[in-house]
Amino acid sequence: MTLDDIKRVFEEKTGKAPEGIVTAPGRVNLIGEHTDYNGGFVLPMAIDKKTIVAWARRDDNILNLIPEEPDDIYTTIDLDQPVEKTEVKWANYVRGVIWGMQQKNVPMSGMDLMYVSTVPIGSGLSSSAALEMSTAMAVLQAAGQTMDRYEMALLCQKAEHDFAGTPCGIMDQAISALGQDGHALLLDCVSGDQTLIPFDCSHAKLLVCDTKVKHALNDGGYAARRDQCYSAAEKLGVKLLREATADQVDAVVASDDYTDKEKMRVRHVVGEIQRTVDAVKVLEQNDFDAFGKLMFGSHNSLRDDYEVSCVELDKIVEIAATCEGVYGARMTGGGFGGCAIVLVKADNADATQAKIEAEFRATFDHDCAIFATKPAKGACIIE
Ligand code: GLA
Repeated sequence: MTLDDIKRVFEEKTGKAPEGIVTAPGRVNLIGEHTDYNGGFVLPMAIDKKTIVAWARRDDNILNLIPEEPDDIYTTIDLDQPVEKTEVKWANYVRGVIWGMQQKNVPMSGMDLMYVSTVPIGSGLSSSAALEMSTAMAVLQAAGQTMDRYEMALLCQKAEHDFAGTPCGIMDQAISALGQDGHALLLDCVSGDQTLIPFDCSHAKLLVCDTKVKHALNDGGYAARRDQCYSAAEKLGVKLLREATADQVDAVVASDDYTDKEKMRVRHVVGEIQRTVDAVKVLEQNDFDAFGKLMFGSHNSLRDDYEVSCVELDKIVEIAATCEGVYGARMTGGGFGGCAIVLVKADNADATQAKIEAEFRATFDHDCAIFATKPAKGACIIE
């Protein structure tokens, strides 16, 4: 949908022109997976798939949440009542943000909010963070206020915890708020320190390969990993696994005090944090060969030690590894389905895409969806 289409549809649905239009993107994570809630480093980038919200004020105290798709559920929030979660799942992300804004005393009155999104839902590209962050942007724009971007990310993360029931880390909301064109973001998930890392895609392409296998992070697999990490950290006497050293990992693996799962999770997390630090060093030298090796290392660790991959993701990475010009490939995001990313020389991108599509279909009897992406800008006001 073009901007003009959005304005036209908004007017058709509400009888008035939008007063503001804001957007927030989805993301892929280049490396640093399942490290955020362990206090480690992550290296995500915003992508050019995003949620757009067009809004206009109303005379009452009702927030009218209008989905773009006619089949999606249209719902309302009455600002005169306590904001609570309901059975309309997509709107719970919005409700959580509205609740968070009330806690920060951001003034709000009735609004029509129309949502249009190009982030595929449930594909591990953070459609929920885009939904939360675009809502936060719209509320702030209407109030004529701004908020520190990291504070916005924390508010949206809390919405996801309390209203959607997903015990996520901070990565997705942070990159949706803080992404910059041409850059990935190195985020220290303890201090919140942010460093933009140039990610030059002029001679390479980053392919996002959607397995079309849907995952649900709140189905327990994610929370179980998180709990195993926290129990291992407690036994080790550290607050978060970020503080564990490589020597301690050896001691954990050799010890009878830890379950096998705890040993595997610790090995992944400590190794992945190191790979993320190493990735930044090699990317600063534009050494995509070295970065690609780290991507494969990350995938193997997520598959074997963290057990969050699946056959479809493994297959994409396996096919990519046989393609000419491929630097590296890995699953991205929470896992249990969703997307893999493949970094390939620009000249070899089309052939790589064709080979992955063909071999994937031959193996699973359904298609994967592949698109190329570049690091894009984080949440912003369009007009
Ligand atoms: C999901 C969560 C993030 C992060 C990733 C795994 O995307 O929302 O906070 O934990 O999984 O790296």
